[in-house]
Amino acid sequence: MPLLDRRLVVVSGKGGTGKTTVSAALAVLASRSGKRVLICEMDAKGSLAAAFDVGSLPFDAVEVSPNLFAMAMNTEDSLREYLRRFAHIPFVGRLGVLARTFDFVADAAPGVKEILSLGKLCYEVRERHYDMVIVDGVATGHVIAQLAAPDVIGELIKVGPVHEQTRWMREILADPAQCGVVLVTTPEEMPVVETAELVDQIRAQTQVDVAAIVANRVLPELFGRNDEMVFDALGHGAALDALHAAIGGEVDAVLEGARLAVTMRRGGAAQLETLRDRLPAGIGVLYVPELFSRSTGRRSAELVADALGEELL
Ligand SMILES: Nc1ncnc2c1ncn2[C@@H]1O[C@H](COP(=O)(O)OP(=O)(O)OP(=O)(O)O)[C@@H](O)[C@H]1O
Ligand SMILES: [Mg+2]
Repeated sequence: MPLLDRRLVVVSGKGGTGKTTVSAALAVLASRSGKRVLICEMDAKGSLAAAFDVGSLPFDAVEVSPNLFAMAMNTEDSLREYLRRFAHIPFVGRLGVLARTFDFVADAAPGVKEILSLGKLCYEVRERHYDMVIVDGVATGHVIAQLAAPDVIGELIKVGPVHEQTRWMREILADPAQCGVVLVTTPEEMPVVETAELVDQIRAQTQVDVAAIVANRVLPELFGRNDEMVFDALGHGAALDALHAAIGGEVDAVLEGARLAVTMRRGGAAQLETLRDRLPAGIGVLYVPELFSRSTGRRSAELVADALGEELL
């Protein structure tokens, strides 16, 4: 199922690789095509608000651009909404004692917080409040626990409303036509190794389909083979002497810069090859270039959306 046709897309990956940027860009891309999109930040960093040039994001989604609604996850608000909707407790103001009890239970029982946060988003999918829900998800170390939470709790609690909740969540999460994970990496050794391992873990320990890998911050090929030959020729012997005589020692820094650009690009390309070799068949890699512009926030999201659009559309 094409990525943009899925209704729930969870973005994860190693810290700092561009999860928030890529999530925002996917949301921009989907909303451009007229879809009504919800994007949710799962960690409380506030980077998603910055990606849309707004100060902060509340739990109740706000429209940050036409068709694009953004929210920040908050387990206490999610619990309150859950109680209102499913336990028919009409209004819970300040949760007070209940919240403290909840924290106690949630800290002791794995999966409770995860199921409340992911459950809220699955609910939005189930009720078709949005055409697409994009999750700026938790990083590598935590995403398995989040995606597997309905399985874990569903096995623990076999009857009643909580079991019913895990049942329909699992139906959405396990259906590759509806849900998929996108893992973001950069073309560097550690992120690539971590990504390949995470793909294996997601496939082994959860029901969720890995929809695509985004290789972010890929360096452009500034110089081709012929350019390299030119730089090599200029870098020693009579040519270099002539350049030194005509221009001076500054020439060395320029030649060094060119060599560095070639080395970095080649190193990144080798890492991307390793990544493609390690990935199971059928998982595509989408490439997003390093943005050299000074733009931040919404402008960056738009530029990354353009790049992803070329890869996807
Ligand atoms: N393609 C790109 N070109 C240039 N800079 C980028 C690109 N993608 C992301 N960045 C920059 O890298 C930094 C980290 O990006 P981002 O916040 O999206 O990563 P993250 O994975 O969400 O991080 P965290 O793990 O902290 O949540 C930001 O400063 C962002 O602007
Ligand atoms: Mg982030």
